[in-house]
Amino acid sequence: MAGRLLVATAVVAAAAAAAVGAAAALQAINVTTVAFEEGYTPLFGFDNILRSADDRTVSLLLDRSTGSGFISSSMYQHGFFSASIKLPSLDYTAGVVVAFYTSNGDVFEKRHDELDFEFLGNIRGKPWRVQTNVYGNGSVSRGREERYLLPFDPTTEFHRYSILWTRAAIVFFVDDVPVREVRRSPAMSGDFPSKPMSLYATVWDASTWATSGGRYRVNYRYGPFVASFTDLALLGCRVDPIQMLAGSDACAAAEDALLASDLAVMTLEKQQAMRRFREQNMVYSYCYDTVRYPAPFPECDVVESERRRFKGSGHLRLAFRRRRRTRPGSRPARPTRAADM
Ligand SMILES: *[C@@H]1O[C@H](CO)[C@@H](O)[C@H](O)[C@H]1NC(C)=O
Ligand SMILES: *[C@@H]1O[C@H](CO)[C@@H](O)[C@H](O)[C@H]1NC(C)=O
Repeated sequence: MAGRLLVATAVVAAAAAAAVGAAAALQAINVTTVAFEEGYTPLFGFDNILRSADDRTVSLLLDRSTGSGFISSSMYQHGFFSASIKLPSLDYTAGVVVAFYTSNGDVFEKRHDELDFEFLGNIRGKPWRVQTNVYGNGSVSRGREERYLLPFDPTTEFHRYSILWTRAAIVFFVDDVPVREVRRSPAMSGDFPSKPMSLYATVWDASTWATSGGRYRVNYRYGPFVASFTDLALLGCRVDPIQMLAGSDACAAAEDALLASDLAVMTLEKQQAMRRFREQNMVYSYCYDTVRYPAPFPECDVVESERRRFKGSGHLRLAFRRRRRTRPGSRPARPTRAADM
């Protein structure tokens, strides 16, 4: 199966293209979607995985008995991984984490690669937060977290979350907007993911750390917590990881095609939309966290005017949180420590 590039053929009307204001000027992400059976397999909590009759929407439940998750049936050497996700709409989701990520931790235990979207539940009246992260070759002591508040309610409609991974860069997208780009630089060395990865989607109980470092735990009186996934897309070069490490370059042509595609070309419009999203929504960046990381990371492009908006802990200063949009009907997100995690 090596070397097979799944070419985009169908249009997916972005779940809510207009939801992210900046998306208007951007080209809609246009990828082939697959049924669950075509690309994925259940991973854990089998009884808590509910598939729609057409097999194109999957709901993952977290209840007292277990969380749940699924995994791609293949590993990929670079690719574009995407799903439209609707998060649990309950009032109180502290300790609940929905994750959509690529990893090879099962195959390369000590030197694994990983690219994360993690959705962190919150206490009553506070919105979900989204975290992105990048690990390469077991760089677990160097978390590269960024966190954002979403400019829409992620619990009422599906929104598309995508991870692009090429040999040149990693880009995270929310709907059609790139929200983070990590360009490969020689200084990043092994910290840039380089080995084949699988795609995962999970919902789990992260009571011990997810909300204010574990101060708020999952409260199952509010459960079950349901995260739904649809518009599933897996574009990339499928590989056998062992064969890959033996020096096969079967994926080179597929990678070239991906790099040249609209998905990977970082247009001026995309760069501007990314900058706007980050100015308006980013609330934490490891690049500004000098408490954890006194020495800056090689890939951090520290902009002085941006740096001033963040505390030495990497969190956005309270003064910059005022114009935060909140869920309709919920209390305004006041800058308390609960939102700081
Ligand atoms: C989406 O991609 C397909 C195949 O690559 C192409 O035929 C179609 O015109 C594209 N649609 C849009 C809206 O770009
Ligand atoms: C990855 O880690 C292993 C063992 O820790 C090391 O031998 C190897 O050189 C690293 N690879 C890269 C690309 O840094």
